[in-house]
Amino acid sequence: RAGPPCVVVVFGATGDLTFRKLFPSLYDLHCLGSLDSRSCIVGVGRSALDHAAFRERMRESLTQAGVEDLSRWDDLAARLYYCSVDVDTGTGMDALHALCNELDTARQIGGNRLYYLAVPPTAYETIATRLGQAGMASEAQGFARIVIEKPFGSDLVTAKALDAAIHQHFTEHQVFRIDHYLAKETVQNIMVLRFANAIFEPLWDRRYIDHVRITAAESLGVEHRAAFYEQAGVLRDMFQNHMMQLLALCAMEPPSQFEAELVRDEKTKVYRALRPFPVGRLNEHLVLGQYGAGMIDDRKVPAYVDEPGVPADSATPTYACMKVFIDNWRWQGVPFYLVSGKRLRRKHTEIVVKFKEVPYSMFRKVLGEHISANTLILSIQPREEVILTFQTKLPGPMCLRTVRMEFDYNAGVKRPKTDAYVKVLQDVLLGDQTLFWRQDSVELCWGFLTPILQECDCPDKAERLYLYRAGSDGPQEVRHILSPATMQHGTTP
Ligand code: BG6
Repeated sequence: RAGPPCVVVVFGATGDLTFRKLFPSLYDLHCLGSLDSRSCIVGVGRSALDHAAFRERMRESLTQAGVEDLSRWDDLAARLYYCSVDVDTGTGMDALHALCNELDTARQIGGNRLYYLAVPPTAYETIATRLGQAGMASEAQGFARIVIEKPFGSDLVTAKALDAAIHQHFTEHQVFRIDHYLAKETVQNIMVLRFANAIFEPLWDRRYIDHVRITAAESLGVEHRAAFYEQAGVLRDMFQNHMMQLLALCAMEPPSQFEAELVRDEKTKVYRALRPFPVGRLNEHLVLGQYGAGMIDDRKVPAYVDEPGVPADSATPTYACMKVFIDNWRWQGVPFYLVSGKRLRRKHTEIVVKFKEVPYSMFRKVLGEHISANTLILSIQPREEVILTFQTKLPGPMCLRTVRMEFDYNAGVKRPKTDAYVKVLQDVLLGDQTLFWRQDSVELCWGFLTPILQECDCPDKAERLYLYRAGSDGPQEVRHILSPATMQHGTTP
């Protein structure tokens, strides 16, 4: 579906995100026919570039991204513009406003604007304010949407302050807060699996589920992002956003319609029901780690503290395993283990739903065998699968074995794979906020995490941190917070 015609204004147009992700995705959108032929793109940056130099840079981004078919390039290049703006001083805002209006009139765009803030989060407030002061947030003619990416603040107080600044000029329906995990196909599939099938939902509660484990493991280290990561650590980088979204998708009640506000209402209810961590007893619910030197894919990699830009005495966690409870009827007593870390053995994101064991085994006496509980695995990436394990009889004398029923998400699908940003941009153009964070959820998640972060930031924080070898499965100490059933049957995070 093509969205309505629009002037897409990209702040941070000469930056890394635009080069690596946004521009190749806009080109994909154009090739898919999802960018109206009247739409145009205005890159905004501090550098003094002319339109031609900007076009050249963007063409280069396609080559770097490995785009092979450039046959539609000329058509898009003719709709690419550049405007130099210093957002700190506001110099250039008038020229930007004038350029947008001129393009709007010439191309009969109808006043629609999409402002994508591909800039460091510290610039969000200033840009939103500049847009507001210039009258560019107004929806008097068409829509005016602003797109920002996490982090939305660094704790509850800063998240509220950022929101207040943005809401001075934009209302909630104009604000699109991206979580790129929500745009992943397999993440979108969680709701379909749960709510478009009759067989899972009756079992999806405390009566049948023993525990749920949500893992987002990465083999990458901190890369070139030490400055950001030193401030964030794994809790702010992965938990306040992606892990919380995956948790909500697993735990939420079915919305009555697949519609943005109703879906987001149900997620919000999950966040409201999160049981606060017991003050002073953090260790029973949280294990933090930091990677030491090790091997990844037969390659030696340095310890976190030896990465460029990381202080030698850094106590920033690069791994966390958190045991979370949801206080409602459906989930009372069921632990959700959220696990994420860098420099782990392999990259994989998955949700493992461990069902309870059979209440009584009529086979035990004869076979003396332990019957494994059923497991449903939603493999998000890099493998995109749904796997169900169950028991069968081995051919021959009575003997049980555990087998897997596997569904490959891409089997029989011819559609070319597109980046998550294609979906994000498409939804912003269509005005569909289903896959975007709503502010009340952002605040509830910060409300849950902030006391934990405060306790973690105490002077003895280094003592809380367990060192793990790069290329391993994380610190062994996670065993301290796992429930007995988890330990017994070898489903350690
Ligand atoms: C980002 C984090 O939000 O998600 C990164 O800032 C992390 O630290 C990345 O590497 C993981 O995303 P994906 O899609 O590779 O799982």
